[in-house]
Amino acid sequence: MRALFLFLAKQEGFKNLAMKLGIFRRAALRFVAGEGLDDAIRAVRQANHQNMTGTLDLLGENTLTKEDAVNACAEITGIFDRILAERVRCNISVKLTQLGLALDPELSRRCLFQIAKHALEKGNFVRVDMEDSPYTQCTLEIVEDAHEKLGNVGTVIQSYLYRSEQDTLRLLDRGIGIRLVKGAYLEPESIAFRKKKDTDANFIKLMKILLTSRPYHAIATHDESIISATKDFARTEEIPKDHFEFQMLYGIRRDLQVRLAQEGYNVRIYIPYGRRWYSYFMRRLAERPSNVAFVARNFFRD
Ligand code: FDA
Repeated sequence: MRALFLFLAKQEGFKNLAMKLGIFRRAALRFVAGEGLDDAIRAVRQANHQNMTGTLDLLGENTLTKEDAVNACAEITGIFDRILAERVRCNISVKLTQLGLALDPELSRRCLFQIAKHALEKGNFVRVDMEDSPYTQCTLEIVEDAHEKLGNVGTVIQSYLYRSEQDTLRLLDRGIGIRLVKGAYLEPESIAFRKKKDTDANFIKLMKILLTSRPYHAIATHDESIISATKDFARTEEIPKDHFEFQMLYGIRRDLQVRLAQEGYNVRIYIPYGRRWYSYFMRRLAERPSNVAFVARNFFRD
């Protein structure tokens, strides 16, 4: 089921069909704040009211033309002005394939620099999401370069990849902040753990490396046993609560998000918005069979 949905996430034909179906659109809204920046700002404000911060993601990936990449870059750059004007506590996450990485890596590098430079002028931060493995190495190289020149750029490490421990140590050497996740794409067994228990064990190992290092890192999961392990480790090692943050996705485990914030942990919500919700939504379906059942039930009810 997971493999099927991750395969469909990349199929343009199915995408065009699914995006026309009201049922898909409505189901996607469980995971997406809305189609416009106003909707996203409203979601950030709601999170801020509950003592949580946000990271905004203008949905889009695998951009097909350089013109689309440049337009996405301009739109993302402008979000920092809005964040400042609205006085919401929030940064931005971007995907380099949205900025043209698959078409022209130099273009995506220039776009990221433009976004990060503007963010720096506004006192803000950019997190570069990690995509599937053909882009891992070039994403890390571009992030390292941007971090060295500007300082306000971090990225993501996926615990399902065998290479992640080495990548983590390299990023830490360079003082780069990391968001640790399990990994959301379909990867071959030659480069990634297939079993959940192996991915989880590697997550815990990497979490311990991050918590005992600087700078400020993010533990991004809804997995309660990993969250408990993180809290226990921080307590035992006397790592203060404000030395790291938990991150979770908009619309998933709101109860847990609020509970952690009430316990005094820093919590950041990843808030996607925009019209290009298809691939993001398919990855959320792939993560949990009951999400698919939810869509199917409503499909037959329509
Ligand atoms: P796991 O999949 O084991 O789920 C644990 C529990 O969480 C489930 O039992 C369920 O209760 C709940 N849950 C998880 N997913 C759900 C869903 N879709 N619907 C409903 N409930 C769900 N990946 C990546 O490759 N690159 C990236 O840049 C990012 N960025 C990112 C940012 C943030 C803030 C988060 C939280 C996650 C990502 N991810 C990501 C996605 C990540 O790799 C992973 O696919 C998801 O977080 C799901 O894995 P969990 O860690 O939640 O564990």
